[in-house]
Amino acid sequence: MEWLFPVFLLFRFSFSHSWCHPHDNLALLHFKASLTINVTYYDVYPTIETWENETDCCSWSGVTCHPISGHVTALDLACGGLQGKINANSTLFTLSHMQSLNLAFNDFSNSQIPSTIGEFGSLTHLDLSFSNFEGEIPPQISHLSKLQSLDLSVDYDFPLKWEEVTWKRMLRNATDLRVLVLDYTDLSSTSTRSLNLSSSLITLSLRKTGLKGKFSDDMLCFPNLQHLYLSGNFDLHGQLQDLSCASASLNFLEISSCELHGPIPDSFSNLTHLTLFDLSDNYLNGSIPSSLLTLPRLNSLFLSSNLLSGKIPNVFHQSNMFEELYLGGNNIEGELPSTFSNLQHLIYLDISYNKLEGPLPNKITGFSNLNDFRLTENLLNGTIPSWCFSLPSLVSLELSFNQFTGGIPAISSYSLQSLVLDGNKLQGNISESLFNLVNLTHLDLSSNNFSGSVNFSLFSKFQNLETLRLSNLSQLSLNFESSINYSFSGLMELDLSSMGLTEFPKLFRKIPGLETLILSDNKLNGKVPNWLHEMYYLSYVALDRNFLTTPVDQFSRNYKLGHLDVSFNLLTGGISSSICNASSLQVLKLSNNKLTGTIPECLVSSPSLSFLSLERNRLNGTLPNTFASNILGSLQLNDNRFEGLLPESLSNCMQLEVLNLGNNQLEDTFPHWLQTLPHLKVLVLRDNKLHGPISKFKTKYGFPSLNIFDISSNNFSGPIPEDYIQNFESMKNVQDEVAGHPQLYLVWLSGISPITVTTKGTILLFERILKNFVSIDLSGNKFEGEIPKVIGELQALTGLNLSHNRLSGHIPQSMGNLTVLESLDLSSNMLTGSIPTEFLNMKFLEVLNLSYNHLVGEIPMGKQFGSFSNDSYKGNLGLCGDPLSMKCSQKHDEDPPPSQSLWREDKFGFDWKPVAIGYGCGTVFGVGIGSFVFFIGKPKLLVRMFGG
Ligand SMILES: *[C@@H]1O[C@H](CO)[C@@H](O)[C@H](O)[C@H]1NC(C)=O
Ligand SMILES: *[C@@H]1O[C@H](CO)[C@@H](O)[C@H](O)[C@H]1NC(C)=O
Ligand SMILES: *[C@@H]1O[C@H](CO)[C@@H](O)[C@H](O)[C@H]1NC(C)=O
Ligand SMILES: *[C@@H]1O[C@H](CO)[C@@H](O)[C@H](O)[C@H]1NC(C)=O
Ligand SMILES: *[C@@H]1O[C@H](CO)[C@@H](O)[C@H](O)[C@H]1NC(C)=O
Repeated sequence: MEWLFPVFLLFRFSFSHSWCHPHDNLALLHFKASLTINVTYYDVYPTIETWENETDCCSWSGVTCHPISGHVTALDLACGGLQGKINANSTLFTLSHMQSLNLAFNDFSNSQIPSTIGEFGSLTHLDLSFSNFEGEIPPQISHLSKLQSLDLSVDYDFPLKWEEVTWKRMLRNATDLRVLVLDYTDLSSTSTRSLNLSSSLITLSLRKTGLKGKFSDDMLCFPNLQHLYLSGNFDLHGQLQDLSCASASLNFLEISSCELHGPIPDSFSNLTHLTLFDLSDNYLNGSIPSSLLTLPRLNSLFLSSNLLSGKIPNVFHQSNMFEELYLGGNNIEGELPSTFSNLQHLIYLDISYNKLEGPLPNKITGFSNLNDFRLTENLLNGTIPSWCFSLPSLVSLELSFNQFTGGIPAISSYSLQSLVLDGNKLQGNISESLFNLVNLTHLDLSSNNFSGSVNFSLFSKFQNLETLRLSNLSQLSLNFESSINYSFSGLMELDLSSMGLTEFPKLFRKIPGLETLILSDNKLNGKVPNWLHEMYYLSYVALDRNFLTTPVDQFSRNYKLGHLDVSFNLLTGGISSSICNASSLQVLKLSNNKLTGTIPECLVSSPSLSFLSLERNRLNGTLPNTFASNILGSLQLNDNRFEGLLPESLSNCMQLEVLNLGNNQLEDTFPHWLQTLPHLKVLVLRDNKLHGPISKFKTKYGFPSLNIFDISSNNFSGPIPEDYIQNFESMKNVQDEVAGHPQLYLVWLSGISPITVTTKGTILLFERILKNFVSIDLSGNKFEGEIPKVIGELQALTGLNLSHNRLSGHIPQSMGNLTVLESLDLSSNMLTGSIPTEFLNMKFLEVLNLSYNHLVGEIPMGKQFGSFSNDSYKGNLGLCGDPLSMKCSQKHDEDPPPSQSLWREDKFGFDWKPVAIGYGCGTVFGVGIGSFVFFIGKPKLLVRMFGG
């Protein structure tokens, strides 16, 4: 056949430009006419615009023709600025010789992928990624049996959905697939067992596709596989041992944010071609195998957010210097593997959020290319070895939240740009040599034991400094007086919280570009200096927990302000509508002050405000009824003196998640119109003058997301609203909680100070709690009748308080289904009958109060019931058995024991349950308790998103 070659060339050279097949020429022109071109897109390459009638289509840009037949064989219109829909009858699909079609990065207006795509019988390459296609992937895609590469990936969750049958057929037919990239498409209806993939696979990318099930060999054992990306499939579980067949040619292996359990097996040392290995955010435990660290080509290793604990690797003989370490009598139990010395290529090493212990090795060799080194939040101790500051290429070093002691060692490499050492036990003066790190852009020394005094002006030696965090260094005194003229020209974030500052730092004109200023938890008093309001870029200000008396209105001059927290101060006076001049305001926290007056109407109709917390002040008047359809997510006005009606316009706030109006003097009937809010998770109306029966309102939507429902201490009457309870859908499913992964939650309520998570120039307010806090509190009303049986369907309930009502009848047995209940208070009602033995199913019950009812019979015995005292039962007529003195055999004839005061204030009832927080998260500066939070996703992802 070789003789054909010159002939072929000849044809190509002489004829290809005039051979465009007329049919294809016309088809392309029609295709062009069916779309519009939007050249305002960033990075558009407007190929299609150059297509003109009566010219040869084979010369058009993006078009490739067959050299002989002149049929179009390839179309590459990626980033073409194309807009519109491609209909199934589009002339595009008449280009029957098409082998390669690339329409990536266009905008097909949320239309479906046309079913006629299946008519491209010769197609080998199809790329429709990031093109705004939506809906079900057409079954006809399985006709493309010659496909070698398919990319349908998108950048947001699940716009394109695979039906299992389509998926299976496609995989069965497309036996030549080499590249399959389907990131963020919806594969949740398929099972991993149907992953019968082509053995020619080189690249498989199924990031965040909702895949469920177990990792299996057929998923990974492809002899030629080089790139495997499975991150973000939270429901994909298994052990790495299951992947023992992994191809030796693997180059990129990314399985983060899945559900991998168990250890990292030694067998991964076989993957000698690995350059990137990402197992972060899983549940891996055991030690880091030393063999992993000897992979010759590895340049990025991500093991953060696991449960790795580290055992001494058995490889000391490989490197003499570690004998020295070993014999040196260090506590090497659970140390980092000393084979670090072999890593010549490593650029990125992240083992944050694990349980590694012991000191870092004293010496290492290698690491010469290491750029980014992160060990945040482990249990490492000892001093920071000097090699950390002598690695020639190190740009970023993060050792936050360990137990390092000693000082910052001598510095002999100046490559560092980001140095993050917060949350350790570093001590002594801040060494002069630190200031030689002239390239620093980010410095965080917060929460250490540094002592002595340091001139703040010294930090201006870092000419490129963008972020400076010196918070919670109680033994270090910062000196702002300076004879020299200095300024921080690039500083964008300054955190000096918890530094015992008694006066505002004198930084007039020294931080002109500042965006974020955090001075929380100091002793600042009086007013904020005027220069602060002249700072043009200031958008995030946290001054909470001081003694400031600044009028709120002053901040209306900072019109870029997005976040203002002046909670826990001594603010007095009112909030005037001028605060709305700060038109970018998203978060306004003024809780726990002494503010008086009313809420300006403009504030609640603001299109930008998402978080308004004014609780625990002395605000009064009626609540404005101008709530608009905006992004308000959390509204806390509790513990003020508001009166009048509940504002019905709140039902416009479709994003509302938290509403706390408790402890005011509001007078109204039940706000049934809130039931349409799809995301409302917390509704607290306790301690007001709300009244009337609730059951008279029709339920249609029924608070689908509610987790906390507190309408206690009002005057509600009538029966317990059974219909509502039946509709509390999100109280029905107990959320799984995996040991070792306490959940993180977003934005909580209540007057308790929040946790501030500060990272990378963004500061976000977080509070967290265990996510399975689900409670109903109807106590202190006039509810009557029986406890509805449906309450037993709310199986996620952890707290139930029906005390101090007029409930009668028997306690329903169905309550025994509330197996995660931790606190139950039915006291001070008129309940009769016995305590259902089903209560023994409440394995987690810690607080039980059944006192002051008319209960009779034997108290259930065994399990957690052994731990309740007399107080749980007193004031009942005929209860007997442990712990009461009345034994069951002698009951009936005796009078009940005299009770002191039947309606005594009851200290048993559960209130907002304080939950201590014991799990750090990136850079967390404070602990909130007794606050409530929501789950917003897989927790570790948050940590990474904001923390690392
Ligand atoms: C063109 O694209 C830009 C950028 O995405 C967009 O803002 C604009 O609305 C588009 N124009 C039309 C007419 O769709
Ligand atoms: C191309 O030009 C010819 C001759 O001017 C005309 O008849 C035909 O309709 C044009 N086709 C398209 C698709 O514009
Ligand atoms: C192609 O399909 C669209 C929508 O289904 C329809 O509106 C249009 O008339 C069809 N065009 C032709 C040429 O059949
Ligand atoms: C497999 O591909 C062939 C050839 O394109 C096609 O005729 C057949 O319908 C396809 N099978 C399925 C199940 O789609
Ligand atoms: C490494 O691969 C070889 C050959 O493929 C195999 O025999 C051996 O068991 C593997 N080693 C480990 C530790 O899995």
